[in-house]
Amino acid sequence: MDAAAKLRLTTGAKLNLFLRVLGLRPDGYHELESIFHSLEFADDLELSPAEDISVVARPGDDFVGELPGQAENLVYKTAVMLRDHIGQPRGASIEVTKRIPIGGGLGGGSSNAAGALLALNELWGAHLERPDMIEIACAIGSDVLYCVEGGATSLVTGRGDKLAPLAAALAPIWFVLGISNEPLLTSEVYAAYDALETGEHPGPAPMTMALGAGDVSEIAASLYNDLEPAAFSLRPELADKRAVLMEAGALGAAMTGSGPTMFGIAADEGSARRIALEVEGDFDRVVVTRSGAGCVGGLGTPALL
Ligand code: C5P
Repeated sequence: MDAAAKLRLTTGAKLNLFLRVLGLRPDGYHELESIFHSLEFADDLELSPAEDISVVARPGDDFVGELPGQAENLVYKTAVMLRDHIGQPRGASIEVTKRIPIGGGLGGGSSNAAGALLALNELWGAHLERPDMIEIACAIGSDVLYCVEGGATSLVTGRGDKLAPLAAALAPIWFVLGISNEPLLTSEVYAAYDALETGEHPGPAPMTMALGAGDVSEIAASLYNDLEPAAFSLRPELADKRAVLMEAGALGAAMTGSGPTMFGIAADEGSARRIALEVEGDFDRVVVTRSGAGCVGGLGTPALL
């Protein structure tokens, strides 16, 4: 029997319960203020020692869409970046089983990258110091640091590089995700946002208070995303989807990130499953999930082959 240690982990999706754009930064990115919330809905990562770095992505249950080739996969970029940082030859064979749609606003690619960074740090015995870990996470993409830092519900600011965990007295919330198989390019949604007139933007206080109180109805009533008009201008059919979720019984509904995934909050699991059945025909794919304990799961339990 091959005794090589394999690392298996899950890397979860996130939702933006609140997202406000504060302005354009000199580096071309947008200054954000957002509340991130981790979900149980996750991809799987399996890593084993190897001579070279190789990454294969496979479709998990119900996954539809193009899978990135190795060179475009954020997991591959992460592995190369960490190897270059260490400055010594290192390899790993990495398999990603995708369930989270790509380009859906659910942060799946970022969470895959975060999981790979944490796992390779262990597999390669890199013992990265925290500032180096933060630097690499931020260089990979905007949402990676949130996941590397554990994925507790947080107020995220800057370009996603400043995190403040929120005191959430929270039982898991049930969500219904309405997924579109046509991804939206984050950069195009931000460009559309810049082209639109913008008025008043509410602040995050109602959502932070609702989370602090653990009041699911207030959380549902405080959902907000500044990028909705921009995404809806690119994909007009999305504009009706919030109403579809609300009419099916959601307590509140919104778009996550730069879309196109829409989500509704349900009172409990039974209600989530009833809503999912009702809206099945309105989305390409509907997923029922609930709040996750964090972003990366299962690390530190290497399985022997
Ligand atoms: O960092 P990431 O690769 O996820 O971002 C993709 C694109 O989305 C960026 O190139 C930028 O055009 C836009 N973006 C932005 N402001 C952010 C995050 C992303 O303008 N805070």
